Amino acid sequence: MIQTKTHTNEKETKMRAIVYHTYGSPDVLKLEEVQKPVPQDDEVLVKVHAASANAADWHLLRGKPFLMRLMGFGLLKPKHKFLGAAVAGRVEAVGRTVTQFQPGDEVFGDLSACGFGAFAEYVSVPANALALKPTRLTFEEAAAVPVAAVTALQGLRDKGQIQPGQKVLINGASGGVGTFAVQIAKAFGADVTGVCSTRNVDMVRSIGADQVIDYTKEDFTQNGQRYDLILAANGYHPISAYKRALSPKGTYVMTGGSMAQLFQAMLLGPWISMTGSKKMGSLMAKPNQKDLVFVKELLEAGKVVPVIDRRYTLSEVPEVIRYLEEGHARGKVVITVNQNNNT
Ligand SMILES: NC(=O)c1ccc[n+]([C@@H]2O[C@H](COP(=O)([O-])OP(=O)(O)OC[C@H]3O[C@@H](n4cnc5c(N)ncnc54)[C@H](OP(=O)(O)O)[C@@H]3O)[C@@H](O)[C@H]2O)c1
Repeated sequence: MIQTKTHTNEKETKMRAIVYHTYGSPDVLKLEEVQKPVPQDDEVLVKVHAASANAADWHLLRGKPFLMRLMGFGLLKPKHKFLGAAVAGRVEAVGRTVTQFQPGDEVFGDLSACGFGAFAEYVSVPANALALKPTRLTFEEAAAVPVAAVTALQGLRDKGQIQPGQKVLINGASGGVGTFAVQIAKAFGADVTGVCSTRNVDMVRSIGADQVIDYTKEDFTQNGQRYDLILAANGYHPISAYKRALSPKGTYVMTGGSMAQLFQAMLLGPWISMTGSKKMGSLMAKPNQKDLVFVKELLEAGKVVPVIDRRYTLSEVPEVIRYLEEGHARGKVVITVNQNNNT
């Protein structure tokens, strides 16, 4: 978490960070000089080399859906002024009780459960939000991973109970979550169908999808095919259409989509699951170190490779958010914070 503390040497105690003081559009984001954080006993001070943007960043920025304001993020104005959940960088200092990391370690992590703050030159976070960065990845590639890949993993493995040989469909296969989901499903031995628009068909095939459906030409819910597991990372269809596309004992997991899709999965999903053989519901991903390490092993084995769409600088974060909000990112959008040390 980024904190404010008094220090003696002004130069060493300041850093640049993207901050926002009111809910609103990306126009309210400012690059400001703020106090450099000081790690608490259980925290690690990370010099940020790269971050990546996720939908959570623009939800927090806009304070939407309104429900999240009631969940402790600030009713009328944001409780925290920093954004950025996915981070990669180098350990600068550690708190008194931290034994897992030491200065100089290259790390990556998900800060969404500990106050965000990756869109900054430094961030101080509990050690358990981090893992050692996969050595073969650059900081930018590593920053693309934490939120999106762990969401895909938890959707497929935990909610979806994925099994080798299953027919798995990923709707929204070309986005941040989708590009990881395609590769993770392949790593679990599934037969994977990715759904995306025309311009992304080749990319989704190149990351391992066995079949690719272009949603501008074909509606997978109407073509008679049945899937054992459907992960809806993006792309609206009514829950009844997803149900139709499932095999008799199939499972549907919604990680993202429209509000209607979300409410249908949350309200109708449990009812459908209770009254029939198909399982339908939504996922709220929970960051945890174990899953991050699981993904790290897939990355180190070369079974999963981050797909990076665009790279921006820290001052360009408002443009990053605008781009992400358009809903057509191809893989992940990363922010290079410290260019000099990007191995
Ligand atoms: N549940 C959780 O805990 C959790 C965690 C992380 C994210 N999420 C949610 O998951 C969703 C996906 O996140 P993300 O990071 O993957 O978003 P993203 O990267 O912004 O998704 C962009 C992708 O969505 C595709 N897309 C747009 N419309 C589509 C459609 N009609 N059919 C199929 N694909 C379509 C786009 O492909 P084309 O350009 O080819 O159209 C693009 O590649 C978001 O709603 C986010 O809020 C949830």
